[in-house]
Amino acid sequence: MTSTELEEYISALPKAELHLHIEGSLEPEMLFEMAARNRVRLKYASVEALKRAYAFGNLQHFLDIYYAGADALRREQDFYELTMAYLRKAHADRVLHTEIFFDPQTHTARGIPFDSVVRGILDALADGEKEMGISSRLILCFLRHLGEESAFEALQMALPYRDHIVAVGLDSSERGFPPSLFRRVFDKAREEGFLTVAHAGEEGPAAYVREALDLLLVRRIDHGYAAIDDADLLERLAAEQIPLTMCPLSNQRLQVYPDLTLHPLKEMLDRGIPVTVNSDDPAYFGGYVNDNFLAISRALNLSRSDLRLLAVHSFTGSFLDQERKADLIATIPA
Ligand code: HPA
Ligand code: ZN
Repeated sequence: MTSTELEEYISALPKAELHLHIEGSLEPEMLFEMAARNRVRLKYASVEALKRAYAFGNLQHFLDIYYAGADALRREQDFYELTMAYLRKAHADRVLHTEIFFDPQTHTARGIPFDSVVRGILDALADGEKEMGISSRLILCFLRHLGEESAFEALQMALPYRDHIVAVGLDSSERGFPPSLFRRVFDKAREEGFLTVAHAGEEGPAAYVREALDLLLVRRIDHGYAAIDDADLLERLAAEQIPLTMCPLSNQRLQVYPDLTLHPLKEMLDRGIPVTVNSDDPAYFGGYVNDNFLAISRALNLSRSDLRLLAVHSFTGSFLDQERKADLIATIPA
């Protein structure tokens, strides 16, 4: 494929996005606009100065700036506008279904009511479906660095929204915070009817991927690259068809794979693991889902059939019912 053919193929490819932090879709311009109207003081004098700070050495460096940016979000309307802006970008990238993470503890710790956060997001998801036909699910992520007790509090706040939050997940600083620390809160979440996912094997070892599967009984692994070091685990991911939600531009920007030609996506795809391509925190990592498809396709020389398979996995790996999955897969050109 020529470069133009590749871009056109990716743009036209129907897809689902399964790894997107809504707070990570806060573009610098919107961040400044919201900070101004909410009278939030920022550390950076301009959009340009803020963008210059987006040169990350590792996950923690990014997280510090990402949590600081989230401070601009104060009112239900902010969460609504943030989510609508993301949905418009996703729609333009031919995303037909999206599963969005949110980090409630980042907001409740600042005194923002849980209800404002969730209502803003849910109203936008409903309007996005009406306006653009994008279906969606919402996933609550616990922040690892805040520990178990705080996660239990977040879960408690989510109970009234059980019908609108499909799953719980686990994000933030990975090393030193193994999935085992969250076993009890994940047990409770499953008892309450939530599905489970977890970030694992981004900066942490393959053992964290195993723990997420064995102790948190996750349906998907977010990232999961470290499994490449563990032959038995690779076999298991293929045998059990565990989806991995990979995020190439995030990996490049966070120095997980500064050189994308060394990224394990293609090897895992060829081993029969249902890997997918996603944008993680697009406002911070330089691109939405199609930019991620393009970057990894170029780095690994992906073929049309590889790309098609990635799109199929995005639908099969979603939390949609079988019927809608089949309908969406049928929209992918042969
Ligand atoms: N990893 C962990 N936590 C996160 C990420 C990530 O890539 N993005 C937002 N929170
Ligand atoms: Zn993530």
